[in-house]
Amino acid sequence: MFTKLFKNNNDEAEQIELDESKIPNHIAIIMDGNGRWAKRRHLPRIAGHRQGMDVVREITRAASDLGVKVLTLYAFSTENWKRPDDEVSFLMDLPVKFFNKFVPELIEQNVRVNVMGYVEQLPAKTKKAVLDAMEQTKDNTGMVLNFALNYGSRAEIVTAVKELSRRVAAGSLEVEAIDEQTISRALMTGKLAPYCDPELIIRTSGEERISNFLLWQLAYSELVFTETLWPDYQPANLYQDIKTYQSRDRRFGGVTEEEK
Ligand code: FPP
Repeated sequence: MFTKLFKNNNDEAEQIELDESKIPNHIAIIMDGNGRWAKRRHLPRIAGHRQGMDVVREITRAASDLGVKVLTLYAFSTENWKRPDDEVSFLMDLPVKFFNKFVPELIEQNVRVNVMGYVEQLPAKTKKAVLDAMEQTKDNTGMVLNFALNYGSRAEIVTAVKELSRRVAAGSLEVEAIDEQTISRALMTGKLAPYCDPELIIRTSGEERISNFLLWQLAYSELVFTETLWPDYQPANLYQDIKTYQSRDRRFGGVTEEEK
C-alpha cells in the first residue's frame, strides 16, 4: 500500500491509500482548463499555461515516485495552431522554459524525456529544446515523460498507414502479416513498448471528450474526467484519480470471476 497524507480544501489532513500492485504503468493526461483558470483570476490566458507548466513538474515527480513507467502529457495538439498568434507563441516557448529550468531535476529523478508529434513543424527553438532534452536524458532508466507536442491521433494513424503501405510496396511487409501489433508499433507510441497503451487517461477541467488523443491506444483505457482545472491539479488529485482507476473492474471484454 502507498499511503499519503494530503491537505484537503478545508485544510484538514486526508489520507489516500493506493494499492502498490495496481499502479497504472502508463498514464496519459489531457491537461485542460488553463484558460478558464486564468479567466477566473482576471488574468490573461497565458498565465494559466505558465501555472500549468509548474503543475507538470509536480505531477511528473509524483508519478515517478509512484513507479509509473510512462506519463504522457498532451501539451499541444495539431489543432492548437488555430489559437491566437501570441498564445501559440507562448505555448511554443513553454517547452524551452520548462526544459531550461527542469532538466537537471529530471536527470536527478532518472526521468527520460520523449516527445511524440510532428516535431519538424515546430519553431526552431522549440524543436531544439525538445531534442536537447531527449538527448540529455536518453540514458535515464526511470519513468518516460512523454510530451505529445503538435500531436493529433488521426494524423498519427495516417502517417502509420502510409509507412506500412510503403513497406508493403517495397516488398518488406506482407499484407497478411499485418496485425494489431504491427499497427501499434507503427504509431508514435510504438517506441514506448511494452507500455504503448495507457491504462488510465485523465482529462481535467470537466470536459468529457477525447479530442483526437490516442484513439487507437485507448481501446481498453479507463477514462477519468475530473472537474479540477489543470493549474489546480495537485499530486493529491493524481492519487485520487488513480484510486478511482483502482476501483474500476477492468474486464477487457471478458467477464468477472463472480459472473462466470
Ligand atoms: C488546454 O487548456 C491546455 C493547453 C492547450 C496547453 C497545455 C499546456 C500546458 C499545461 C503546459 C505544458 C508544459 C510544457 C512543459 C510543454 P485551455 O487553454 O484549452 O483551457 P480552457 O479550455 O480553459 O480555455
